[in-house]
Amino acid sequence: MSADALIARFEQEKSRALGRSLRRHAGLYYTPPEIAARVMEVALQSVGGASGRVLDPCAGAGAFLVAAARAGLRDLHGFDLDPEALRVARKALSLCGARARLRKADSLRLSPREPADLLVSNPPYGHVADARERAFLLDKFPALRGGEIDRYAAFLLRALQLVRPGGAAALLVPDTWMFLSRSGALREAVLAQAEVEFELKEMEGHATNVHYFGGVQFQQFGLHHVEIFLENELRLRFPLPVVRIALAQAQ
Ligand SMILES: C[S@@+](CC[C@H](N)C(=O)[O-])C[C@H]1O[C@@H](n2cnc3c(N)ncnc32)[C@H](O)[C@@H]1O
Repeated sequence: MSADALIARFEQEKSRALGRSLRRHAGLYYTPPEIAARVMEVALQSVGGASGRVLDPCAGAGAFLVAAARAGLRDLHGFDLDPEALRVARKALSLCGARARLRKADSLRLSPREPADLLVSNPPYGHVADARERAFLLDKFPALRGGEIDRYAAFLLRALQLVRPGGAAALLVPDTWMFLSRSGALREAVLAQAEVEFELKEMEGHATNVHYFGGVQFQQFGLHHVEIFLENELRLRFPLPVVRIALAQAQ
C-alpha cells in the first residue's frame, strides 16, 4: 500500500467512527497529496530550495511530512493531539523510506527545543467555543481580539513563533483574515512579523476595478491605512508606512 492510500484509508475509517460533527470538531480533514506537494513546492521556492528543520505543528497522518520527504527533506518533525494519526504518519513516512520525530502535543502550548527553518501545515479551522480556550488564546495572542476566534488564526500567529527569523511558514488557511474588518489586528500582527506571499492562480478571477487617485497627499509621515471597499463593503485594509513627505515648493 502507498503512503497516500494509507493516509486516505485512516481518514475514511476515523471519520466514519467519529461522525460528521465530531469530525468537524477534531478538524480531521487531511490534505490531499497533490495539494501538500504543491504547498511544499511553493514553500521551498520561497526559501530558495534550502533544506533544514521542517515542522508540521498539526501533522495529522503526515500528509505534509510525506510531501517533505518526497521533496528530499530529512530533518522532519511533527506534533499532533491525535496519537493514532501520528502512528499512521510514522508508517506512511516509513513507506517513503523516511523518518520523523513525532510527538503527541498541543502545539499552541508546547514549544520545540529549536525553531523550524520551514513550517508547513493545514491547521484546524472553526470557531473556538470554549470560554477557557478563548481566554488562553486572547492572552497569548492579543491580535485575535475583535470578535469570534477562528482556530486557524491562532495557528497562523503560532506558526510565526515556531519558525526561526528568516525561515518560512506555508499554511493552508482560508483567506478571510485578509479582508474581514474584525481581522485588522491579526493582519497587522502578521505583517509586522513576516513578509506575506500571495498566490493568485487565476488573475482574472481576482481582478478588481481599481481607481487610482493621483495626487493624494499625506500631511504626516507614519503608519497610514489603506482601505478598499467593494460595493460599500470593506474588503481589504492594509498598513501603508509613509516614510517621507515631500514639501511643495513655495510659488
Ligand atoms: C486539518 S487537520 C490537518 C492534518 C495534516 N496537517 C494534513 O494536512 O493532512 C488538523 C490536525 O490538527 C490537529 N490539532 C488540532 N488542534 C491541535 C493542537 N492544539 N495541537 C496539535 N495538533 C492539533 C488535529 O488532530 C488534526 O490532525
